[in-house]
Order: sequence, then C-alpha cells, then structure tokens
Amino acid sequence: MLFDTHTHINDGAFQDDLDDVVQRALDSGVERMVVVGVDRPTIEKVFPIIDKYPFIYGAIGWNPEDAVDMTEHDFEWITANLKRPGIVALGEIGLDYHWDKSPKPIQHQVFRRQIRAAKDAGLPLIIHNREASEDVLRILREEHAESVGGVMHCFSDNWAWAEKFIDLNFYISFGGPVTFKNAQLQRETAARVPLDRLLIETDCPYLSPHPFRGKRNEPARVRLVAEKLSEIKGISLDEIASVTTENAKRCFHIG
Ligand code: NI
Repeated sequence: MLFDTHTHINDGAFQDDLDDVVQRALDSGVERMVVVGVDRPTIEKVFPIIDKYPFIYGAIGWNPEDAVDMTEHDFEWITANLKRPGIVALGEIGLDYHWDKSPKPIQHQVFRRQIRAAKDAGLPLIIHNREASEDVLRILREEHAESVGGVMHCFSDNWAWAEKFIDLNFYISFGGPVTFKNAQLQRETAARVPLDRLLIETDCPYLSPHPFRGKRNEPARVRLVAEKLSEIKGISLDEIASVTTENAKRCFHIG
C-alpha cells in the first residue's frame, strides 16, 4: 500500500475525471492520499472530496505566494475548518522567494500565525519552501513548530538542510523530481534521510515523474517515486511502501 502525502486533485485539471483518477490510484496500490487546498477556491474543493472518499484526507492552509491576499476573514475561516473530520494537517504554508508577488515581511507574518494556529489545533504542518530554507528554518524554530512537526514537501535541498528539519520533528517528502536525470542532489539527500523520516508524494497535477515529465501528474504515479527510492535505498518496493505509509500515518495521526 502506498500513501501519496501531497496531491492537488482539487485542481481544475481533474474536474472532468476525478473518479477515474482515484480509481487508477487504487488500482496502483495508492490507498491513502492527502488533498491540499491553498486558497479560497481550492480549499472549498477539498471538503466534498474528503467527504466522498474516506481514504482521502485533507490539508488546508494559505500559500505564501498569495500571502498578501489573505484577509482576517480567510484566516478565521481556515482555523475554524481545521476541526472538520478528515483534516489532518495545516498546509501547505511556508515561504516562496521565487515569486515576488508577496513581500517577505508579509509572507513571514502569514506563515507565523498559521504555525500558531496549527499548534492550537494540534495538527502537523505541510511546509512549502522555495529558495527560502534559512528563513523557513529560523521561523519554525522561533515558533517552536517542533511541538507539531510535519512534512517538508517536495524537498529539493541538500542533506545538511534535511538534517536540520528532521531535528525539528519534520519528515522529508520526495516527489517526481527525484526521478529526473538532473536531480542528483535530491537523490543524494534521499540516500541519507533515515527510513523512519521518509515520505512520498506526487504534488499532482505538477511534477510528473520520469518518463511522464511535463504531462499531467496523478496519484497513481507516486509508485514511480517509490520505485526510485527503493533503488536509491537498496531495499524492496514493498519495504519502501510500508515504511513510508507508516511514517505518513504517524505524521498525520491517522489510525
Ligand atoms: Ni502543493
């Protein structure tokens, strides 16, 4: 059994064939997944999905690129909905220095108050970090995020950084990029992440693994990520599947 810890099957890319996509996931052994909402429209679409499929869990949070757009009302709406059955994490939240739509101080403020909300709710975090490892780590430390921990989603930095986040009670999640030809750094990091801190994800519809790079991604393809990790770690696919599934359940307090 595989657990895709990060999907956006609430994205418009799946509006016409979500049932088929979910069935293909089940047929590939992907029996658990998390659907992530990052703003008003995508969070609203998380709820009917988790209500319909009992094996799909939800994560909600305001994304850093649009931090500047989050109103007080949005923040209260998110925190109120953290109590909904099936919501297992607050995220994805974090810092994104690639896009310059939201100034850094505003990203920091929106990140900090959502970390506090997760701690109040007793939920783990799903962290989006793009070109911002230093500030992400500093803020997680300052806010004592280790009390809830969570996931470093689609991790793309080196082992030295991974180790710091692991020390802060975070799991390291790898997606499609670990299968890309030019992703030597991610593979070197994955090789060193302890098995009990490893997670897998698709981030679909983005980041389709090799040989589907550039095509719409879907949860069934998390199997290709798991296969690559089994190769990197030198253990069987079954072992990778079972250890990453156990890790995800522990991280999200499932079962
Ligand atoms: Ni995402």
